[in-house]
Amino acid sequence: MSSKKELIVSKIKNGTVIDHIPAGQALLVLKILGITGREGYRVALVMNVESKKLGKKDIVKIEGRELTPEEVNVISAVAPTATINIIRNFEVAKKFRVSPPEIIRGRFKCKNPVCITNVPREPVEPVFYLVRRDPPLFACAYCGRYHEIADLML
Ligand code: CTP
Ligand code: ZN
Repeated sequence: MSSKKELIVSKIKNGTVIDHIPAGQALLVLKILGITGREGYRVALVMNVESKKLGKKDIVKIEGRELTPEEVNVISAVAPTATINIIRNFEVAKKFRVSPPEIIRGRFKCKNPVCITNVPREPVEPVFYLVRRDPPLFACAYCGRYHEIADLML
C-alpha cells in the first residue's frame, strides 16, 4: 500500500535512511550533515511525500554510509521528528529517533559578536551545551549566550 508510493525511490542495500523529516527540511538536513554530493555516496532526496504521521514529509537515503547517533543528532535542530534507519543487506538493522545532542562542536557560530569564538583569526572552535531539552536550548561554552535552535540555524 503506502510502500508502493515510497517506491518513487528504490530501497537501498546498505546505508542510512533518514525518514520522517518535516516537509521541506531535507536540504537543510544534508547541509548540517555536511553532505554535498561530492563525497561519492549515492544520495536520494525525496521531498513532500505523504506521511501518516506528518501529513507530508521528506526522506534522505545515503547509500554506503552508516551515520552514527552522534552525527545524526545534530539534525534534531531542523528535523526533531526524524527517524534514522540503518540498512544492512536491504533490511532495517537499527532504527532510532534523533534527540538533541548534549554538546555541539564546531558546526554553528555563536551569535554574540564579541564572543571569543567570533574574534578574527582566533582559532577557537565554537562549542554549545544543551541546557534545556524541550524545547532545546543551547549555551555557548565560551560566553554563555543562550541559543534556541532557530538561532543556531541562522
Ligand atoms: N528503506 C529503504 N531501503 C531498505 C529498507 C528500508 O530505503 N532496504 C526505507 C523505507 O522506504 C522507509 C525507511 O527505510 O522509508 C524505514 O523502513 P521501514 O522500517 O521498513 O518502514 P516503516 O515501518 O514504514 O518505518 P516507520 O515505522 O519508522 O515509519
Ligand atoms: Zn559565545
